Amino acid sequence: YNVTWDAQAAEKGGYEHFMIKEIHEQPKAIRDTMTSRISKDSDEVKLDDITLTAEDLKNIDKIFIVACGTAYHAGMVGKYVIEKLARIPVEVDIASEFRYRKPIINGKTLMIVISQSGETADTLAALREAKAQGARVIAVTNVVGSSVAREADNLLYTWAGPEIAVASTKAYVTQLIAMYIIALYLARLNGSMPVEEYRTIRDEMLSLPEKAEELLAKKEEVQKFAAQNFMHKDIFYLGRGLDYTVALEGALKIKEISYLHAEAFAAGELKHGPIALIEQGTPVIALASQEDLFDKTLSNIKEVITRGAKVLAIAMEGKKDAEKSVDEVIYIPKTLQLLAPVLEVIPLQLLAYYTAVQRGCDVDKPKNLAKSVTVE
Ligand code: G6P
Repeated sequence: YNVTWDAQAAEKGGYEHFMIKEIHEQPKAIRDTMTSRISKDSDEVKLDDITLTAEDLKNIDKIFIVACGTAYHAGMVGKYVIEKLARIPVEVDIASEFRYRKPIINGKTLMIVISQSGETADTLAALREAKAQGARVIAVTNVVGSSVAREADNLLYTWAGPEIAVASTKAYVTQLIAMYIIALYLARLNGSMPVEEYRTIRDEMLSLPEKAEELLAKKEEVQKFAAQNFMHKDIFYLGRGLDYTVALEGALKIKEISYLHAEAFAAGELKHGPIALIEQGTPVIALASQEDLFDKTLSNIKEVITRGAKVLAIAMEGKKDAEKSVDEVIYIPKTLQLLAPVLEVIPLQLLAYYTAVQRGCDVDKPKNLAKSVTVE
């Protein structure tokens, strides 16, 4: 018989699509992004390409994080963790909005741009604008030698490896890791974090690859939910705090590849409108990983259930209460709530993937979308 050599199939390493392959590469991508920067034998974050000194940092009164799409969602997590750990005010902006709103930038501004490709036109333009006005720019990018990497003052590469699928997965989790690393770095540099706290977060970060692996082993649970719900026209995601930022990313993923109408809400906003959209059988993905917000989110979950929603909850292991009220719960391995986004996004990526497959969509090359948007 004829043996046909299919280079694409070979690159997919036995997976049906690049996206699912890249989802499975996340434990490695997370590990690679941490390697040489944080480790058990040191209480320092080592960032070779960031030359900011304690003196420089004293002079900085504001951080802007600017990005597009998935990278913007990673930036939202960045704001949360930098403010929490390093106590420096952070604003997050969509790059295409940033330039046109006359932001206040000067020599006391630190800008962090996040871009997987390093070539997104709006992100690059925002970087140039900030530099022109005297800001120092740190680029977080996945592509060595990309435009953003070349033009920024300082650099932090994400080591996700090449990402082929249009929908970003492994790049996103490594961008999250980059945000934690930068937050820890700044917090140690300005003295706002005692070494014990540093060690706790660092050690927990180092265990994330293994925990991501555990979670990937549960993919059938997500696949089952996708198989039961792929024909709905709407799907909603809700969460509070960091869970809200992950809800936005989860909703983006499913829109991008399965063309479902998906929206994410801050759970507290439900009563201010979105709840009007909940009907009998509407799928709602409820993110409830944040310990201190768990009861509040649970009460929002009950509100949508009363209106007939079919709820899939994502909660941290040990939160048995979640089960009593919802149709399905996926437990993420126990971790610090600060780090939960890294794990929590995995079932959402899988849900988007399996939903798209069920709907017969072109998973790796969704219609109308490009991997890198180099025009405005
Ligand atoms: C496009 C891609 C998204 C990505 C966004 C920003 O829309 O389809 O996956 O998040 O651009 O890209 P960047 O390369 O700047 O991270």
